[in-house]
Amino acid sequence: MRLRILSCCAAIGSLAFAADIPHLQKQGTATQLIVDGKPFMALAGELHNSSATSLEYMKPVWPRLAEAKLNTVLAGVSWNQIEPRDGKFDFSVLDGVIQGARSQNLRLVLLWFGSWKNALSSYPPDWVKKDYKRFPRVQVQNGKTIELLSTLSDANRDADARAFAALMRHVKEVDSQQRTVLMIQVENEVNVIGDSRDRSPMADKAFAGQVPKELMDYLQKHKDTLISEFGKVWEAAGFKTSGTWEEVFGKGLATDEAFMAWNYSRYIGHVAGAGKAEYPIPMYVNAAVMGFARVGPPANAHSGGPLAQLGDIWRAGGPQIDILSPDIYGNDDFFTSTTASYARNGNPMFIPETGGGRDGVNRALYAFGRHNSMGFSPFGIDGSRAPDADLTAGYDLLGQLAPLILAHQGTDKISAVLLNQSNPSQKVQVGNYTLTVASPRPRAAAGAPPSQAAVPSSAAILIAVGPDEYYVAGSGVTVSFAPSTPGLPLAGLGTVEEGRFVDGRWVPGRQLAGDETEQGDYLSLRSLGIQHVTLYRYE
Ligand code: DGJ
Repeated sequence: MRLRILSCCAAIGSLAFAADIPHLQKQGTATQLIVDGKPFMALAGELHNSSATSLEYMKPVWPRLAEAKLNTVLAGVSWNQIEPRDGKFDFSVLDGVIQGARSQNLRLVLLWFGSWKNALSSYPPDWVKKDYKRFPRVQVQNGKTIELLSTLSDANRDADARAFAALMRHVKEVDSQQRTVLMIQVENEVNVIGDSRDRSPMADKAFAGQVPKELMDYLQKHKDTLISEFGKVWEAAGFKTSGTWEEVFGKGLATDEAFMAWNYSRYIGHVAGAGKAEYPIPMYVNAAVMGFARVGPPANAHSGGPLAQLGDIWRAGGPQIDILSPDIYGNDDFFTSTTASYARNGNPMFIPETGGGRDGVNRALYAFGRHNSMGFSPFGIDGSRAPDADLTAGYDLLGQLAPLILAHQGTDKISAVLLNQSNPSQKVQVGNYTLTVASPRPRAAAGAPPSQAAVPSSAAILIAVGPDEYYVAGSGVTVSFAPSTPGLPLAGLGTVEEGRFVDGRWVPGRQLAGDETEQGDYLSLRSLGIQHVTLYRYE
């Protein structure tokens, strides 16, 4: 009897545990990160790769990150540091990192620098690196070996999975009550470099063999919704349902890339699964969004990483992985096209690496408002550069808006625009109105011809909180409204206020009219801020 009661309580305890630890949850079309039972928006930054290996180094960094209005920090965990000897683990530095984050009320996303970091294998412990027979490397063209653990080796995979499982067991032990650690990135920017695929004898044998049944089954089951770039590769080869890699997908770089994507996703999926068996918090992989194997000569290839166009293969090979995330460096157009390509087929949005500054703020507004992102994280946040005042102001504003954004993500009542020289105005449907958001040309001096200066990038996030009521936040934009639902055809601005959210409550500042709304024509947000507007209709 006593035993029974105990096991019943244990079951209730583990149910409560499973519901309370960080997890993902759907809200409409969005997938949100749930922390302590509530949706959470990670206003994050990623440390330089080696920062979190020294508590001394990190001591002055923690308060700076909190002052910069971050609520989450992405910090690397080095395999070499936690398992310096085969099977002997040391988590003392990680424990200090968790304490450091807690001391400033920060949350953590841990980056597992295990088998691979930026393609290569610089993070495995010395006992792995030295034992090249037990832990085989990739071979590329001309039989050249590169310092990259082969995805085809069970010994590589199992050693990584054992260390990762030990890490997750430890995180559960020290953190499942306080839940400072929210998510885990498994490996970092994986891909084969210097060739389009592994050409070791082991890899050649697998490549000459049949495409695994699990992949064929997945592709057939999802044939109508496959990511189009990869669907076309399969279609061009005749939609065959069995055969060798080259029989099913044709001969060429795209097939090599698919082969590598399958092998990476199997390996990393296995590692993630071993970690989740210990402590199942959300896990993602990140991609260097750059050259693909099929672009340029094989020698310049980056092949097999979790690029958007390989999403179906990664899903089939690594179902234990929750999110395929893009690291996005580049201009605004690259940012919008990359986020759009990763948002396909319900892939949740989390941006683990990108840039900061004013552009970063614009892109954060866009990512949270347009693509329901659960987090945004400029890289090198502990750099020696002067503090990123733009990012701090942006995170301050996003922190104020977070409850509103999170309440509306996944519905048709929120959106965002990112404007620049090539895209200076955009119409977007939000709630009952079509909003025209434009970035005004810089003003010319009185009597001078219109300014020819480039239109700077700008952004706005737009949230309908009632049938005729909006919050708009951003900078460098004007916003006008036109009814898009049946009823009176014209819209006017009623009361317009600028203001701030304090503890989730709107505190209005100036009431805006006259020149500040172009005599009632449109909202005008010149510098970063939030405005609240009520609308009325007439004819
Ligand atoms: C991408 C990598 O994922 C990061 O760890 C870091 O090395 C940056 N590149 C450097 O720009």
